[in-house]
Amino acid sequence: MQSALDPAGREAEAVALLFWVMVAGGGVIWLGVMGALFYASHLKKQPFSERKAGGLIVFGGVAFPVAVLAALLAYAVWLMPAMRPWFGGEGEGLRRIEVTAEQYWWRVRYLDERGQLIRESANEVYMPVDERVLFLLKAKDVIHSFWIPSIGGKMDAIPGRVNSLQLEATRPGSYRGVCAEFCGTAHALMAFTVEALEPDAFEEWLQQTSVAASAQSGLQQVSLSAGEASFLRQGCGACHAIDGTEAQGTIGPNLTGFGRRPTIAAGTLPNTREHLIRFIRSPDTIKPGVRMPAFSMLPESELTAIADYLKGLE
Ligand code: CUA
Repeated sequence: MQSALDPAGREAEAVALLFWVMVAGGGVIWLGVMGALFYASHLKKQPFSERKAGGLIVFGGVAFPVAVLAALLAYAVWLMPAMRPWFGGEGEGLRRIEVTAEQYWWRVRYLDERGQLIRESANEVYMPVDERVLFLLKAKDVIHSFWIPSIGGKMDAIPGRVNSLQLEATRPGSYRGVCAEFCGTAHALMAFTVEALEPDAFEEWLQQTSVAASAQSGLQQVSLSAGEASFLRQGCGACHAIDGTEAQGTIGPNLTGFGRRPTIAAGTLPNTREHLIRFIRSPDTIKPGVRMPAFSMLPESELTAIADYLKGLE
């Protein structure tokens, strides 16, 4: 779900309300103008007296639009203080999620009150409902913009600085977030999923630091191990980390719990075995400009083993 007009967050609710009030205000003016036009073109037989015409211009052409537009302006200005903590603010005591935008994916780090890392993920934001969360937005390379239309935002992520954004989800569910600032060839392929969970479920997810699907049955276990071995042998672990395994790379997206992610390549394709094989074989054909090298030299069986291994990570 990705719609600013179907809000599931405090901030998106304020934006949606402002939008509808503006539409209604614009609609009232439009109806007034159309009514006057109809009257003048169809109903009015005699020209107005000069005095009456002057009065009409003052009322319909000046006073009425000024009153409606002034009311809308006053309403928008009145809303601003309510939005201030949303943009910026200290966020003392709030849960912190640090999001780093990179070409073309999202590094998501969950921090405790002292700023220590609890867990890292990529292209998926988990957040509890009915709790204000402080997002710390960073960028590694160029300017990106973090936006979850259904919940709130957007705010730019700028290299060399940390922007803060407070969001509160009000309804559990799965939502879609996007990069809202053109950042290169794959800008349109830089999305992420958002899971708003009940507080208990969120805590449970947060504490699941590991990982590798171990309790699998006989045959599957063999192929999973083969996949993990291939993953490590091909050097995937130099760029990607999977908590609880030897893979501890920090350049690319953290793949812990990859099997649970609904999409691959930052929201580009559904997370299926076929898509995963295609992506590992030649990432550039799915996502132009992606930093990951192609592994087209690998035999199908090895690609399949790696894909199965990743799909098995929970
Ligand atoms: Cu990142 Cu557009």
